[in-house]
Amino acid sequence: MKLTVLPLASLPLLLLVGCASTPDTTQLVAESRQTAGGLIQTLGGELKAAMTAGGPPQAISVCKDRAPKIAAEAAARTGMRIKRVSPNNRNPKGVPDAWESAALAGLEQRLAAGEKPETLDTHAVVDTPQGKIYRYAKALVTQPACLGCHGPAENLSPEVKAKLAAEYPADKAIGYSAGMIRGVLSIQKAL
Ligand code: HEC
Repeated sequence: MKLTVLPLASLPLLLLVGCASTPDTTQLVAESRQTAGGLIQTLGGELKAAMTAGGPPQAISVCKDRAPKIAAEAAARTGMRIKRVSPNNRNPKGVPDAWESAALAGLEQRLAAGEKPETLDTHAVVDTPQGKIYRYAKALVTQPACLGCHGPAENLSPEVKAKLAAEYPADKAIGYSAGMIRGVLSIQKAL
């Protein structure tokens, strides 16, 4: 008798343990990679077109106005929160949170260890008072095409400098060289 009672009594405990285990994020990671890749491609294409049409001064509006819109469209489509952050942020709202800072530090280490920059990303499931949150970060690596707006001060044209000074008085996003991680594309979704 006792033997049959014991497993029954432990059933709620087993269920609890089952619920507390880490959810399978394979699908979410695949979706994040696809979304991030699409965003980077769309933004890169628009940046290139604007640079050809009017040079960096004109392309600034692509980064300023189009980047958040493209991210918002992808967010609406996927139900994920998407943003760009950097410890040397240009947009005052682009400050990384604790998870993003740690993720970036890990990505920097992997880059330094020789990993390919294009595929550098990381993900986790984080416990919060509001519940479990899936988090994803992809490295946004500085390309030669970024230097007109994020390179060392001497690389920036007087026009770009003036525009940045007017629109981003607290700008920290210069001084980068090609190959450095400029920031991360950060995606999150409540589970
Ligand atoms: C024409 C100028 C210009 C070029 C070229 C450019 N950016 Fe930016 N970048 C900006 C501006 C302006 C912002 C601030 C956008 C905003 O207000 O959200 C920005 C913001 C960012 C951010 C968000 C974090 C922050 O600092 O606010 C990242 C990440 C970033 N850029 C990466 C890149 C990368 C990588 C490239 C090259 C592939 C690039 N940018 C090329 C002007 C540019």
